[in-house]
Amino acid sequence: MADTTQMDKLVSLCKRRGFIFQSSEVYGGLGSVWDYGPLGVELKKNVKDRWWRAMVHARDDIEGLDAAILMHPKVWEASGHVSGFTDPLIDCRQCKNRFRADDARIKGTPGTPDAQCPVCGSKGTLTEPRLFNLMFKTFMGPVEDSAAVVYLRPETAQGIYVNYLNVLQASRQRIPFGIAQIGKAFRNEITPGNFIFRTREFEQMEMQFFVKPGTDAAWFERWREWRMAWHHELGLNPAKLRWHEHAGNELAHYARAAFDIEYEFPFGWNEIEGIHNRGDFDLGRHQEHSGKKLEYFDQAANERYLPNIVETSAGADRVTLTTLVDAYREEEVEGETRVVLGFHPSVAPIKAAVLPLVKKDGMPELATEVYHDLRRRFHCFYDDSGAIGRRYRRMDEAGTPFCVTIDGETLAGRTVTVRHRDSMAQDRVALEQLLPFIRERIGA
Ligand code: GAP
Repeated sequence: MADTTQMDKLVSLCKRRGFIFQSSEVYGGLGSVWDYGPLGVELKKNVKDRWWRAMVHARDDIEGLDAAILMHPKVWEASGHVSGFTDPLIDCRQCKNRFRADDARIKGTPGTPDAQCPVCGSKGTLTEPRLFNLMFKTFMGPVEDSAAVVYLRPETAQGIYVNYLNVLQASRQRIPFGIAQIGKAFRNEITPGNFIFRTREFEQMEMQFFVKPGTDAAWFERWREWRMAWHHELGLNPAKLRWHEHAGNELAHYARAAFDIEYEFPFGWNEIEGIHNRGDFDLGRHQEHSGKKLEYFDQAANERYLPNIVETSAGADRVTLTTLVDAYREEEVEGETRVVLGFHPSVAPIKAAVLPLVKKDGMPELATEVYHDLRRRFHCFYDDSGAIGRRYRRMDEAGTPFCVTIDGETLAGRTVTVRHRDSMAQDRVALEQLLPFIRERIGA
């Protein structure tokens, strides 16, 4: 059963501590669009940096790309999105609410007098399902006519396909090789929800790996293994991660095979990343619609072919939500509830907080020096207000792995207390060793 209490607590913590706010809140909010506050933007950036590091910097066979959000409208005809990126939609003529046709709350057959609206309860007011395209449209230039229509991209992948020969030639890569991209995507989802899980504006971290036909199945298996390992290395609880294989009737129009990595959220098991064997569908369609040859010439073998593509596609917001859900815990400590975000140190928004024990005896001055020294290397926070216990609790809620306390002994013997977020244990560390002590533990 869905644990809505845990999600409610997390949503409220995210607002209170500045992780995530509702978009345009002063105007009552905008449906399923969210803004990242000071801690949220750091967390999401750290997730994206880890992905970029693993996919681009740590490999010789993947190049980065940042393609534009707006693309030639023919791209979306070729990709199948204009004709096929649709959900069946039902309207209630009475209350004007909209539903997906497969909404389990609908009683009866929509379009007939016995069908009942799940929101206002009216009978006979539900329309027959009609296909609704999920792409957002806008106009390019001053004239708002059908010739000027452009779309906000619903996935980043197409920017990679239409650039693949440019990247190949510029980087002097050879097949097998990949192109990685992080960027915004937009979908006019009919039933968004569960906080930042399904939104209308989101970010994707996608990689398209171009391989020789016939080797696609083996590469697909390799990429499945590597991508699951990445989520484990992010510190996510392995017991809450699993595979979901798409059965024939679930497969997207472009896919030969597809597996989702799912996480067990409080609202159930749900997809956070998809790994797809797309065969030659994409390059074949772009070759056909553009009239340009997109084949690869393998000089060594003296052969020409249209590469197959293995895609890994993760949502940056979904993975960020996963790190929050996975990290959230409440503990009883000395009769009080301690709320902790036990992030993996590499994604924690703040790596260390510097806290003078009291606001006198030269402690704030020395603490400021230590703070300035540490923040040259990673994101830190300085806090001198309130009792030390309360300051520790505030940092626990923000997910800060280390609190460095400047006390009387620091002044006398140049050592500090380093308090660990998860165990609450404290180490005495020489001031000169503080930077390497923290760097070693956060992997920076
Ligand atoms: N290029 C393939 C593709 O876009 P997808 O399964 O539709 O495949 C891939 O999306 C990933 O993008 C999903 O696993 C999810 O993490 C993220 N995603 C998709 N729709 C989303 C939405 N409305 N809100 C947030 N993330 C979304």
